[in-house]
Amino acid sequence: MKSARAVAHTNIALVKYWGKRESSPADLNLPAVGSLSLTLDRLRSETTVAPADQDSFHLNQEPASGEVAAKVLRHLDRVWQAAGHAGARPTCEVRSHNYLPTAAGLASSASGFAALTLAAAAAFEYDPGRPALSALARRGSGSAARSLWGGFVRLDRGVLPDGSDCRAYPLQPQSFWDVRLLIVHTEKGPKAIGSTAGMQRSRDTSPYYGPWVDTSEADLAAAEAALAARDLPVLGDILEHSCFKMHACMMASRPPIVYWRGATLDVIHAVWRLRAEGLRGYVTSDAGPHVKVLCAEDQAEELAVRLRAVPGVHAVDVVGPGPDPTVEVSA
Ligand code: ADP
Ligand code: DP6
Ligand code: CO
Repeated sequence: MKSARAVAHTNIALVKYWGKRESSPADLNLPAVGSLSLTLDRLRSETTVAPADQDSFHLNQEPASGEVAAKVLRHLDRVWQAAGHAGARPTCEVRSHNYLPTAAGLASSASGFAALTLAAAAAFEYDPGRPALSALARRGSGSAARSLWGGFVRLDRGVLPDGSDCRAYPLQPQSFWDVRLLIVHTEKGPKAIGSTAGMQRSRDTSPYYGPWVDTSEADLAAAEAALAARDLPVLGDILEHSCFKMHACMMASRPPIVYWRGATLDVIHAVWRLRAEGLRGYVTSDAGPHVKVLCAEDQAEELAVRLRAVPGVHAVDVVGPGPDPTVEVSA
């Protein structure tokens, strides 16, 4: 094997993924709904995979253990198996750095598993092309399938039981539309319940889960058309609807899954107030307390200044559409 280093940018869903369909084996990780995302500039994971005497995983310079390390090593096994090499997987040293908060609802699993998939495949000299690598990244984390491309990306739900048609593809490149996403940070620290466990609870207990799944294809089709037309108000309406529908499904789970804090709602209402004043921002939020606001480039700074003044807001980052991932191999 070789040593390889990959950089993958995170992505935020404009039409959300929440829920998995049954699969055998369960770790195929097949989403119950398709999703549509924007890959982000700057927020990224950088991961190296190199041969070593024993397996190890370091995240942000710290040795990782437990499930965090186990998930990474299981993923190396998957990539090795997909590569079809004879014999046992070589032992590897994996090091990753997240240039974004980990497990805080800012999609570290997306950039993390996309970078890991790319670095491991290159280290194992396996090059099946990005669509197949996207399907492989999905098995590490559903949202990771979308971080194989920059710009605007769609992940289809797929219909095949082996998941081979469940992979992302690019809709529009990074240069297509110079929008901005404001990341409005409220609470610090990791989320109370991870996405994987939260989705399972919603599927098992939320009475809104069925309607959530049944209505998502229509949102995807409408969002794709609004994106192609660069129609911000129409896309904004769809992304808010998808976000609130997902959170309603989460909140109606038993016990309830409530990722929002008081400041989350204060920011949402502030965005709506500002919109009435002509600052056109549209809110979305994931499995965490932070709010993301999609807006036009020429209104981003003004919106950021106004949202920094909302009590409970720690910081507002302004990010644009991000690039494709990159991979480098050394001997
Ligand atoms: P997030 O909102 O950050 O995506 P998730 O609960 O979906 O939160 O996933 C967080 C988990 O993803 C972490 O606990 C860890 O297991 C994994 N993860 C995060 N970053 C990386 C990385 N760079 N490399 C490998 N795994 C990672
Ligand atoms: C709310 O991709 O983190 O951010 O597949 O179990 O790893 P796993 O889940 P993950 O879920 C992301 C959920 C979301 C919405 C989205 O990104 O589409
Ligand atoms: Co995640």
